[in-house]
Amino acid sequence: MIAIHKNVQLQPILTKDVLVLQGLMQNIYPAAYSHFWEDDGAFYINNQYSELHILKELSQENAVYYFVLFNNEIIGNFRVVWGEKLSGLSQEKQVKLHRLYLHPNCQNKGVGKSIVSWLEEEASFKNYQIIWLDAMDKQEQAFQFYKKRGYKYHAHTFLDFDLMHVPFRKMNQFYKVL
Ligand SMILES: CC(C)(COP(=O)(O)OP(=O)(O)OC[C@H]1O[C@@H](n2cnc3c(N)ncnc32)[C@H](O)[C@@H]1OP(=O)(O)O)[C@@H](O)C(=O)NCCC(=O)NCCS
Repeated sequence: MIAIHKNVQLQPILTKDVLVLQGLMQNIYPAAYSHFWEDDGAFYINNQYSELHILKELSQENAVYYFVLFNNEIIGNFRVVWGEKLSGLSQEKQVKLHRLYLHPNCQNKGVGKSIVSWLEEEASFKNYQIIWLDAMDKQEQAFQFYKKRGYKYHAHTFLDFDLMHVPFRKMNQFYKVL
């Protein structure tokens, strides 16, 4: 367990935790994104959080998947992919912040900030130069959150999931030079 702030801890996710992660995302994802989808996001969750896909992401050697604990309860999760590069940026040492989701009951309490600050410190310590991430254009909360932390727009793409409503498909990439 890694204590990153008062009341906020990180617990590396292990293969035995697949069901817990699936249950958590069944709760968290629709609260933020169901309106993006014709099926409220059921296909996306079942696909991205299938046992097979989680185990594949857990087996990636350069990545770490964490549960976020707030007041000793699991309330979120995210991945860190060390060395994954953002196309178009020249810096050698880059790290991707991936799939950061916090439970709605625990949003806007500073947990996200402590995670981003922790990762920035870790990355600086390891001499990384860039942190980057993907964020959906129509998710204003995430957009403002990263903007306030000094993350800059880099580029965008459009997701091609048939079940995603067309106006919601734009995904931005944001980065910060450390
Ligand atoms: C986005 C998310 C990670 C942020 O974490 P959090 O713990 O809620 O954020 P914090 O409490 O640390 O900070 C919130 C900041 O965003 C700002 N913010 C949030 N929504 C905002 C909005 N609609 N407009 C302007 N600012 C907003 C707050 O003002 C605050 O900034 P400040 O304290 O510097 O003024 C979290 O809310 C979340 O998981 N949301 C749902 C899933 C999601 O969208 N994940 C992102 C995937 S890329």
